[in-house]
Amino acid sequence: MSKKSNFFDKVRVLFTKQIVYLPKEVDLGELFLIREVKYTDIRHLIAIEKEVYEGEVPWGKTAFLSELNGPQAVLYLLVECDQEVVGFIGTRFDEEDGHITNIAVSKEFQGRGVATTLLNEVKETARKAGYESLSLEVRVSNMDAQRLYRKFGFVARSVKKRYYHSNNEDALDMFYRFEEER
Ligand SMILES: CC(C)(COP(=O)(O)OP(=O)(O)OC[C@H]1O[C@@H](n2cnc3c(N)ncnc32)[C@H](O)[C@@H]1OP(=O)(O)O)[C@@H](O)C(=O)NCCC(=O)NCCS
Repeated sequence: MSKKSNFFDKVRVLFTKQIVYLPKEVDLGELFLIREVKYTDIRHLIAIEKEVYEGEVPWGKTAFLSELNGPQAVLYLLVECDQEVVGFIGTRFDEEDGHITNIAVSKEFQGRGVATTLLNEVKETARKAGYESLSLEVRVSNMDAQRLYRKFGFVARSVKKRYYHSNNEDALDMFYRFEEER
């Protein structure tokens, strides 16, 4: 399977709270699904963080647990391939805005549409629920992620100076308004 092929163009089966994606050739060796994150998945999310952030863990177990147990509405989704967690996204909702707190895809699965699929799910869910906007912060140096967000219509709103404590890097505050779609 080439790096560039995008399995997620090939939706086949829709379940209540989970969507199963099969390649067009119905190769059962490549079963993808999206589902909500459970507590038992947290160690897999941390493993992906360690891999993609060169050993750093911006969100540890306590942070994930308090997010999943917290008072605010959250939507945490992951993608599994053959029962292996390969990517995830986290969004926290206040009254009007869905704030994307996390998105990461394991290196082996990058460039194949996993993040696009996760962002689409969050966007559709927020749109249907009547939210006005989505927002997020991204490192000014993270051009791959910025390209992904711009593709989704996010625009830079401001720069948050020295937002990332690990190296005092600035964050780009990015914003997407649903009304621009209407
Ligand atoms: C950013 C990240 C989540 C993208 O995940 P992904 O599954 O590889 O993304 P997709 O395959 O859905 O690609 C979507 C778009 O992102 C951009 N993109 C993603 N990876 C890219 C790369 N290596 N080079 C250039 N553009 C890239 C492109 O615009 C791409 O669209 P295209 O395929 O139409 O050109 C992934 O690279 C990652 O986990 N990075 C480390 C963690 C991180 O930086 N998270 C963001 C924190 S704000």
